[in-house]
Amino acid sequence: MKTTLAILACLFVATAQASTPASLIHDYRSQAAKQSSGFQPSAQRGATFFRQRFANSSRMPACTSCHSDKPMNSGSHAVTSKTIKPLAPAANADRFTDPEKVEKWFRRNCTEVVGRECSSAEKADFIAFLMEVR
Ligand code: HEC
Repeated sequence: MKTTLAILACLFVATAQASTPASLIHDYRSQAAKQSSGFQPSAQRGATFFRQRFANSSRMPACTSCHSDKPMNSGSHAVTSKTIKPLAPAANADRFTDPEKVEKWFRRNCTEVVGRECSSAEKADFIAFLMEVR
């Protein structure tokens, strides 16, 4: 019964139109826990991932290549030089409120930078890190 309620609660969060950074972490955490039981998001792992340099692309080796090293600041697109608004919800309240937008950009940016899609665990860590940035 408890499990059923928990699953229903997750479904509700997943289908609700507006999300929050916390509800998205909750969803990604539930998905990640299916692969590795007891998974807990880690802001520290998220910070390491954000700054990690991958060998996949020389023009955009890391998330910081476009998003700047400081998520409270605006970034600049590594190819087009277009300004990108801050990623941290504390600086930009629109961040991590639209699940479709979040999924679209994770897919695109992870594929370009990491060379594959990010896992649910990496997404949960990433948002956990950005939520802590002040
Ligand atoms: C080539 C430049 C570039 C790189 C490198 C890049 N991003 Fe982005 N990212 C963008 C752009 C452009 C947007 C969309 C514009 C915006 O939302 O301000 C975006 C938006 C996002 C969003 C949407 C967040 C929201 O709710 O609005 C996420 C999540 C994201 N990026 C994650 C990542 C991650 C994770 C990495 C590293 C693996 C990364 N990005 C690397 C350019 C980049």
